[in-house]
Amino acid sequence: MPFGRSFLPLWPLDPSATYLNHGTVGVVPIRVAEAQQAWRDRIERHPARFMLRDLWSFTGSATSGPTLMRQAAAGVAAFVGARADDLVFVDNTSTGVNAVLRSMTFAPGDEILVTDHIYGGLLTAVHYIARRSGAAVRVASMPYPAFDPALAVERLSAGITDRTKLVLVDHIAAESAIVFPVEDLVRVCKARGVPVLVDGAHVPGQLALDVSAIGADYYVANLHKWAMAPRSSAFMVVAPERQRDLHPPVVSWGLDTGFTQEFDWVGTRDPTPWLTAPEGIRFLQDLDYGALRGYNHDLAWHAARHLTDLWDTPLEIPESAIGSMVSVMTPASIGSAKPDAVRLRDRLLFDHNIEVQVHARAGRVWVRVSAQAYNDHSDIEKLGRALLG
Ligand SMILES: Cc1ncc(COP(=O)(O)O)c(C=O)c1O
Repeated sequence: MPFGRSFLPLWPLDPSATYLNHGTVGVVPIRVAEAQQAWRDRIERHPARFMLRDLWSFTGSATSGPTLMRQAAAGVAAFVGARADDLVFVDNTSTGVNAVLRSMTFAPGDEILVTDHIYGGLLTAVHYIARRSGAAVRVASMPYPAFDPALAVERLSAGITDRTKLVLVDHIAAESAIVFPVEDLVRVCKARGVPVLVDGAHVPGQLALDVSAIGADYYVANLHKWAMAPRSSAFMVVAPERQRDLHPPVVSWGLDTGFTQEFDWVGTRDPTPWLTAPEGIRFLQDLDYGALRGYNHDLAWHAARHLTDLWDTPLEIPESAIGSMVSVMTPASIGSAKPDAVRLRDRLLFDHNIEVQVHARAGRVWVRVSAQAYNDHSDIEKLGRALLG
């Protein structure tokens, strides 16, 4: 087995903890944290020069060649299969999705279509926009847990009407961890002439990603979850024809000076999470990114089989519908509602030092296991026993 607990020292994690929740806020490798500190040290040697000449400038280019924001964007773009000129950094996926929602104009009668796997914080943002504009939110119900990609496409397609102004779909869903057939979902939206926004928060670092091949109008994703970048680091790739009318939620000097120039400066911020993102990518590549994805997927699938066996619960999610995370149904005795999920989450943490995402869905409590290089079978076995204990 190439990876496992012997890799734990590459991260600053407490070795006495069983950390099965890489997906929630990521874990920054020690090497990447050091690279971020090196950027901070460099900034403080000459802060104004760094921020207003090297990092970003009114003219859009630094004293010598592309700005540091653009250089970092080029590094990330090569990794995710996008053109650097179509890619901008944002703090997190929530910010990117808000940029799209707030840049569009909705009127009473318009519809925003989402699925019932949408991340809760983004559903809140969609409802907020709908409340202000009089638009309606439609929710397409996805087949789950017996996931069927063709049926998912059919259900989404059935939710599109003449009034649909935007479709928001997940690439990997937050709670269910289902990998959606995103290229097919995008294709049906485009065939109906509706702009589509993909939430790829969990994708970079978990699946091989080719954003251009997906062809969405907007693709937003986090680098601070699986791509090993420091928080807060995310990006959005925007189709050229959508760039002119898209603005960051915070408008600043760059308004109407061009897409990348406008997003690269939205007030004074710590730019080191984006500048360090290429180092997170190098870290993945040095680990052997393909082998790492294979290991994480196999471990997640092992967790699904082992835990459902031990807990005597059904395993209906097909292996093809997961990446490095899987949600496993717990026994009925654990309960069925959100307070039951919170109780289990806290019992696992405070009684057993196990960190894992727990949620209630479809009348049962589910545990979402994230598999990462530093985990192995012993972590899964510990979780299995602790839940029953
Ligand atoms: C699918 C999905 N979308 C969006 C988000 C929001 O990400 P952020 O908090 O970085 O904005 C999350 C966070 O876990 C998520 O899982």
